[in-house]
Amino acid sequence: MDFKRILITAALPYANGPVHIGHLAGCFLPADIYARYQRAQKRDVKFVCGSDEHGVPITIRAMKEGITPQDVVDKYHAIIKDSFEQMGISFDIYSRTSSKTHHETSQAFFKKLYNDGVFEERESDQYYDEEKNTFLADRYIVGTCPVCSNDNAYGDQCEKCGSTLSPEQLINPRSALSSAPLVKKKTTHWYFPLDKYEAWLKEWIVEGKKDEWKANVYGQCKSWIDSGLQPRAMTRDSNWGVPVPLPGADGKVLYVWFDAPIGYISATKELTNQWSDYWCKDDTKLVHFIGKDNIVFHCIIFPAMLKAHGGFVLPDNVPANEFLNIEGQKVSTSRNWAVWVDEYVKDFPDQQDILRYVLCANAPETKDNDFTWQDFRDRTNNELVSVFGNFVNRAFVLMHKLCNGRVPKLHEEVMDDADRALIQEIKLAKQKVESCLEGYKFRDGLFEVVDLARKANKYMQDKQPWITAKSLDTTPDNQKLIDNCLHLCLQLTANLAILVNPFLPFTAKKMCGMMKVVDRMLEWENAGRIDLLKTNYPLQPPVLLFRKIEDTEVATQVEKLHNNLKQATNQAMENNTTPNATPEAAPQAEETSKYLPPKPEITIDDFNKIDLRVATILSCEKVEKADKLLKLELDLGYEVRTVLSGIAMHFKPEDIVGKQVTVVANLAPRKMKGIESKGMILMAQNMDGKLIFVSAVDTADNGGEVR
Ligand code: 2FM
Ligand code: ZN
Repeated sequence: MDFKRILITAALPYANGPVHIGHLAGCFLPADIYARYQRAQKRDVKFVCGSDEHGVPITIRAMKEGITPQDVVDKYHAIIKDSFEQMGISFDIYSRTSSKTHHETSQAFFKKLYNDGVFEERESDQYYDEEKNTFLADRYIVGTCPVCSNDNAYGDQCEKCGSTLSPEQLINPRSALSSAPLVKKKTTHWYFPLDKYEAWLKEWIVEGKKDEWKANVYGQCKSWIDSGLQPRAMTRDSNWGVPVPLPGADGKVLYVWFDAPIGYISATKELTNQWSDYWCKDDTKLVHFIGKDNIVFHCIIFPAMLKAHGGFVLPDNVPANEFLNIEGQKVSTSRNWAVWVDEYVKDFPDQQDILRYVLCANAPETKDNDFTWQDFRDRTNNELVSVFGNFVNRAFVLMHKLCNGRVPKLHEEVMDDADRALIQEIKLAKQKVESCLEGYKFRDGLFEVVDLARKANKYMQDKQPWITAKSLDTTPDNQKLIDNCLHLCLQLTANLAILVNPFLPFTAKKMCGMMKVVDRMLEWENAGRIDLLKTNYPLQPPVLLFRKIEDTEVATQVEKLHNNLKQATNQAMENNTTPNATPEAAPQAEETSKYLPPKPEITIDDFNKIDLRVATILSCEKVEKADKLLKLELDLGYEVRTVLSGIAMHFKPEDIVGKQVTVVANLAPRKMKGIESKGMILMAQNMDGKLIFVSAVDTADNGGEVR
């Protein structure tokens, strides 16, 4: 079908934390590349997104930080919006679901379904946490997975084995918010009868989208549909969210997965008065970019809602990506194992495109992939700097040196096969990149762009115009050969700017500056042309497109990851929680390996800075108003000192008096609860979270060095 307009959406990120590079790689970057490409094709494009500001994760964060949910979303909406702007994610609108338009739009949507008799009203018993006085969302009930025995499975899903669960299926369910036992209470909710849409979904997806949708997306949908669809509650008991627009529904809000996708409609409404053209006309191509954990919501539930409402277009495609791991580990926001976008732009000012490059070149399009800082360095230095940047730089330097800083003429009479082959490559590159982008194959598309630069480098290397220049006097025709080589290299550079623009827009802009051309040159129809730069047109000197990444920068970033992890782990120990005990419904599913990732290498000198000593606990007592802290008097042989340790949840004071322990004796003193702690006791942590003193098997002398 010929589409008249394209509506691109990127999954609304939860405003309960900043965005990390897994979010970028998962959906925002591919969506942006697609939007930029379609705009370059001069198609009618709208690219919409916004913050997802409802749902339990936000209320939990508010509870934890002692602020209101509105404070939470205000804070993170601003941070997220800024991160996207910095990274050049070119939304036409970045809205938020706490907006008035969104509340009205999602309530009207619900009301229409309600009035049409779509919902089933059901009373049910639901788990209630009496300590926190709240019904618990499925995600806030944890227990043992009946399939794989993971002890920390959530009430909606086990992230270890991927099984979809209900709280009833969990073995020993407990609240993730408190230690209170769970009770059941009666509550009424409105259910969307997904089962009634099963036949239609089968026809639309299983039969209709097999060859169009990505295998990972199609496969997940098919297995959902094949295993039978059930009615799903579209409301929740909560005081944060879009209120259910029915009399007597106080304390009830729309389920966040009911209101969030409607956020795409609300954002389009805020963007343009013509919003209904994009949502209601059949010749709109609607494309949802998401991460794989959002597939069911965008391919099954939201389309069924749209169908039930009537009058809306359905997604043409949902090109979901898999997950991006970091240094071999799943991203974990609670363990702070993530590369945060707001921090990246501070650590690497003006280097947005290299991150865009690495995330796209290594995008998790068909399977989970791994981001490592070493790969970030290697790809930047070996591909962007050595291939792309090097070619453009050489073409400009040589043009200034051998052609008076102007675009030389193309002398057809001395063109050879290599010249003609290069022209052919330029034309082919346009087709190849275009076909990749139309088919949502962004990695391959980017590869083709760099491959063109690679071929151009080889062409220049074979032609060696700097050698030809040495024999100018003896053979005057040689200037023509030099001209031809640099003419083609410069036209190819202009082509590179067009082709790379969707991927690396900051670079394309710099290249336009060097070529003194306006942005209009970047329109896609210009790709494949070899007359983009006029003969004799004076060009600027080259600017550095990319800078090298140093090994020290890699080491600093890896160390930062490990420090963040350590801090989060310590914090969790002080709070007596395991990191990840508080679930997060982030687009990146999170799972911890049993083992912490290895830390970066240190030298023996680094190690020798730590003064480890044997000590015996002389006395021990609980610290007032601190649940987790014990105050210990330690005999270090040469002195007795006070050390505070966050182990009160693990040991009774009377049980550990007399124990020999290992102390970090030269740790800077730190005051907690008004008491100065001078040192730290080493503890080993078992996989089940149990703590064990690190001490000698035999009795050692207090004050003795541990090496
Ligand atoms: O997974 C998430 O981060 C959700 N906030 C995505 C919502 S997408 C849409 F439906 F709005
Ligand atoms: Zn499981």
